[in-house]
Amino acid sequence: MESTFDARCTLCPRLTCFLSRVRERHPDYHAAPVAPFGDAAARFLVVGLAPGMHGANATGRPFTGDHAGILLYETLHRFGFSNRPTAVAMGDGLELTDCRITNAVKCLPPENRPETGEVANCNPFLAAELRTLPRGAVILALGTLAHNAVLRALGLKASAHRFGHGAEHALDGLTLVDSYHCSRYNTQTRRLTPEMFRAVFHRIRELIPPARDSGTPG
Ligand code: URA
Repeated sequence: MESTFDARCTLCPRLTCFLSRVRERHPDYHAAPVAPFGDAAARFLVVGLAPGMHGANATGRPFTGDHAGILLYETLHRFGFSNRPTAVAMGDGLELTDCRITNAVKCLPPENRPETGEVANCNPFLAAELRTLPRGAVILALGTLAHNAVLRALGLKASAHRFGHGAEHALDGLTLVDSYHCSRYNTQTRRLTPEMFRAVFHRIRELIPPARDSGTPG
C-alpha cells in the first residue's frame, strides 16, 4: 500500500524552504510535515486544509494549539469522538475514538494558502489514507480546498459534487459531508456558528451511530 505520510517529504520546494526558515525563527516548533492524528481504524475522517503556523505547525498535531482547533475538538468531544474537549499539545492525553484528523496539505503554507501544485503533490498521501477507510465511512471536509482535495484523491470531478455547508455526497461506499472551515475568521464572523457545526455532526452521527450507552447526543 502507498504511504499515507512521509515525515521527511520535500516534494514542494516552496514549502520545504518556508519550513526551514520557520525552524530558524522558532527552533522549538515542529516545523515539518504534520502526521494524521487519531484512530487508525476510524469510520470518521476529518480533513482540514493545512497546519496553522502557531498550531499544528508548532505542536506537530493537526488543529492543536491554535484557534482553529477550539470548536473542532469541543464538538468532537460532545459527539463522543474523543476523551477531552480541548487540544493543547502532544502528550496532553487527548485520544480520538473512531475518528482521525488529517490535512489536505501536510506542511505549513505561507499565508495559509497552498498552491495548486502543492495540493496536487500532497494528494497521493490523502488518496492512500482514504483507501484505509472502511465501507460506510464518513469524511468531513472543512472548507472548499479540503472538499476538492478529497474528490481529486478519489478520482472524481469537482463539478459533479459542489461544496456547500452541510452538503452530503454519496461517493461509492463513502459519504463526504461538507462544512465551512472552523477557522478563527469563520467562527469570529459567525459564518460558522457552533450550532451550525453541531448540526453537521448530528447528521454525521446519524450516518455512523455511536456504540450503545456511550452517552453521545444522537
Ligand atoms: N490546523 C490544521 O491542522 N488544519 C487546518 O486546516 C487549520 C489549522
